[in-house]
Amino acid sequence: MIAELTYRCPLQCTYCANPLELDRYRDELTTDGWLRILDQARGLGVLQVHLTGGEPLLRRDLTVLIDRARSLGLYTNLVTSGIPLAAGRAAELAEAGLDHVQLSLQDADADRADAVAGLAAHDRKLTAARHFTDAGLPLTINAVLHRGNLARLGDLADQAVALGADRVELAHTQYYGWAWRNRAHLAPGEEQVRQAELDVAAARERHGGRIEIVHVAADHHGGVVKPCMNGWGERQLVVAPNGDVLPCLAAAQLPGLPVPSAVTEDLAAIWYDSPAFNRFRGTAWMQEPCRSCPLREVDHGGCRCQAFQFTGDPAATDPACRLSPHHHLVTDQVVVADSASAPAPRRFR
Ligand code: SF4
Ligand code: FES
Repeated sequence: MIAELTYRCPLQCTYCANPLELDRYRDELTTDGWLRILDQARGLGVLQVHLTGGEPLLRRDLTVLIDRARSLGLYTNLVTSGIPLAAGRAAELAEAGLDHVQLSLQDADADRADAVAGLAAHDRKLTAARHFTDAGLPLTINAVLHRGNLARLGDLADQAVALGADRVELAHTQYYGWAWRNRAHLAPGEEQVRQAELDVAAARERHGGRIEIVHVAADHHGGVVKPCMNGWGERQLVVAPNGDVLPCLAAAQLPGLPVPSAVTEDLAAIWYDSPAFNRFRGTAWMQEPCRSCPLREVDHGGCRCQAFQFTGDPAATDPACRLSPHHHLVTDQVVVADSASAPAPRRFR
């Protein structure tokens, strides 16, 4: 379960995957509301909870929620910018039972990182990383890759090693929410994507087995699709700050999808019976070419949100697939990125 505790955030990253209509989510669940959802999640069979946002550290009840998750036997992962992390809070979270921290860096270069974040954040993040490791928490450094920081991918891996991280995740931008709006500014060209593969290989060589280096490949360059969310309503659910429940982070934008709420409905009933979770389960909803494709149960036809964003039809084959009749929409975008023409102005979240 991905628990989006709040969309409030001190950062303003241009690639944020949060929805554009942040005002819709101002009324956040209460502590009791989240505790009830954690209880129901365990009853449903959930094993892992990713506490994210926005910035989950802004929830004063974070320790209480982690404490309950631990008592239920749930594995907890805190996905954070590290800002704000008051003195002693990392130790308090560890004591409550937090299992793992995933801390974001915007760039390896402080000035460039701060320009993306919209505030002087980089040095505070490095301090936060040390607080987390001093508290004995396993640490993943996460960096979202885009045309503006790809050249320093190797430096990001080096910085993660210097911080004592166990793992670094170098993940190309996923184009939802603010990232979709800013895609002309963020999308890398073909040459940059090829170079990134080489840089990841070099970083693995350099650091050997000292750190796990995970590379999430660029989405629009290989002609194949990602098995988004491991299939719609197959393994994961997302609870938004106001209690809305959906199979993925970006699905609120899909037309004709009645959004169930954990405030008024039981999580198990939402998972098994809601129209939202059943809409793209299995393969019966598929159109050609997915319907008769041998890969349809492997990649699930790609991403419903991406299909909608490019074509207006959430049931279409994901245009990232080279077999999609709309594949040119994706390749045209790559050509624009490659032309290195002046990107559209950035819109901070
Ligand atoms: Fe996957 Fe559909 Fe493309 Fe086949 S046609 S590879 S199922 S996206
Ligand atoms: Fe919604 Fe892929 S992000 S299905």
